[in-house]
Amino acid sequence: MLHLLAALLAAAPLTQCFSHAAIPPLPIPPRISAGDGARLHSQSGEELPPVDTVYTFDQLIDHNNPGLGTFQQRYWSNWEFYQPGGVIVFNTPGESNAEGYMPFLTNDSINGQIAQAHNGATVMLEHRFYGFSNPLPDLSVESLRFHTIQQAIDDLEYFAKNAKLPFPGGDQVGPDKVPWVLVGGSYAGALTAFTNVNKPGLFAAYYASSAVVESITNLWAWFEPVRLHMPQNCSLDVQAAIARFDSILTGKNQTAISALKASFGLEDLAHPEDFAVALKNNLWAWQFLGPSSGDDASVFYDFCDALEVVDGANAGPNGRGGEYALAAWGKYWTDGYYTSLCGDMDAETCLGSYNASDTYFTSTAIDNYDRSWMWIVCNEMGFFQNSAPFPHPTLVSHVWQDSDDERTCQLFFPTAFPRPTPPPVERTNFAYEGWNVHTTNIYFGNGQRDPWMYATVSSPFTYVPDTPEQSIGLSEGGFHCSDMITLEGQCDASVLAVQKKGLAAIARYLAEWKAAKTGAY
Ligand SMILES: *[C@@H]1O[C@H](CO)[C@@H](O)[C@H](O)[C@H]1NC(C)=O
Ligand SMILES: *[C@@H]1O[C@H](CO)[C@@H](O)[C@H](O)[C@H]1NC(C)=O
Ligand SMILES: *[C@@H]1O[C@H](CO)[C@@H](O)[C@H](O)[C@H]1NC(C)=O
Ligand SMILES: *[C@@H]1O[C@H](CO)[C@@H](O)[C@H](O)[C@H]1NC(C)=O
Repeated sequence: MLHLLAALLAAAPLTQCFSHAAIPPLPIPPRISAGDGARLHSQSGEELPPVDTVYTFDQLIDHNNPGLGTFQQRYWSNWEFYQPGGVIVFNTPGESNAEGYMPFLTNDSINGQIAQAHNGATVMLEHRFYGFSNPLPDLSVESLRFHTIQQAIDDLEYFAKNAKLPFPGGDQVGPDKVPWVLVGGSYAGALTAFTNVNKPGLFAAYYASSAVVESITNLWAWFEPVRLHMPQNCSLDVQAAIARFDSILTGKNQTAISALKASFGLEDLAHPEDFAVALKNNLWAWQFLGPSSGDDASVFYDFCDALEVVDGANAGPNGRGGEYALAAWGKYWTDGYYTSLCGDMDAETCLGSYNASDTYFTSTAIDNYDRSWMWIVCNEMGFFQNSAPFPHPTLVSHVWQDSDDERTCQLFFPTAFPRPTPPPVERTNFAYEGWNVHTTNIYFGNGQRDPWMYATVSSPFTYVPDTPEQSIGLSEGGFHCSDMITLEGQCDASVLAVQKKGLAAIARYLAEWKAAKTGAY
């Protein structure tokens, strides 16, 4: 099966995979390029290596058994603003090949803004088991034993304490000598908070954007910010269309079921679950929105226009009703959406989730973030994205259920999951405190339009207080990790306010770190 939205997202530096079966990873979307990479030092004017210069670090394969040896973990660094004694702004982009994330080295991102404000250097480490930073040469279950949140946290510590950074004096800047700021967004935002919980005092300050700190088996509320912030007519019509879809698909009228499949061009798709989950692709596109998303935004809004616009006229606030909307949704698929999703593949190959010999499930080749992320989904974090509990309004079908996600875990990793098993999220929330996080020197930046908001400290499901030592910013206009991207703040005043609050919190934590170091307390 094919999972690339490449055709849709060709303009984005990240080509993101959305499969009907795998849980989409939590991409941080820097949509801007870091220029040609060439930099001059801000003070000396000296020419620096391009920001995309790759360095490698000998990282331990297994932090529980250093005797197993090391692997080469890739990293990048930019020291255009660095002066001796300045901060080290440290980041992993998390569950992706890091090559698309060069803006995290420059002041196109909050990382670079922190570096610029504090004479700092930026350092970006590729997360183990993503891209070309692999402890072992494949992504087999045997190798993935070393793919845990804890090993990733230990990587951050071991790197910080042992790396000889590529700039002058870079072998003398461990976190005991100069202040380090750990920055992360999305899963890596959670990792940032988890590191603070797990290794108190390791770094001077932490900036966690859209950090999904609470692991949740079915994060049905992924779709709540979408439901509440998308055009109202489209939201109501999707809900009505899905209610109709579910009633047909779970009914006994085979003629109606066949007609519904045909209206989407999916006659050949054998399993109703696969039909149901395929429709989530149109809603997952919300993740790419942000004030500066440009062409990416059209992926989501074209879909709404297909449901709401007739002969140039918008539907009113209540939409056009489920019958019309479901038919229009099907037409949108046959008019080009299917091709953009699946190319010339047949529906079963592209969208089916029952073929255990499909190479999508069996391939253990590296640089495959669907597989590496699913390992974390299935073993530690969950984050299935299924229907809301009845009778809460839902944008997605009830036909694909949590058990289907568990079945998918088994398809990917049959030897690890001989039977479908719910992810043990309680263990993760216990180990790293989830919403009970109560720590210091950390800033959480969130956005109300972020589909992941309900797993963050700003979730309406919990109450985490905003305090001077654990500061929280929430923007009305922010989407997923918006506050990490400089341009997003320039486009939206509420995102800018969250960035400013975060920069002030980090400055405060750094001042406290320095005061404690020099005994000035
Ligand atoms: C960002 O950094 C560039 C140098 O790479 C500099 O020219 C520019 O002024 C900086 N932006 C701001 C807002 O300081
Ligand atoms: C079954 O569905 C078809 C197509 O929607 C419809 O024409 C027919 O009346 C339905 N049959 C019954 C028994 O409801
Ligand atoms: C109705 O749908 C159109 C097209 O997607 C959208 O532009 C408009 O904002 C919507 N209006 C309301 C009130 O939801
Ligand atoms: C299952 O996948 C394999 C490998 O891609 C393929 O050869 C086979 O035809 C598929 N079977 C079905 C029923 O689609």
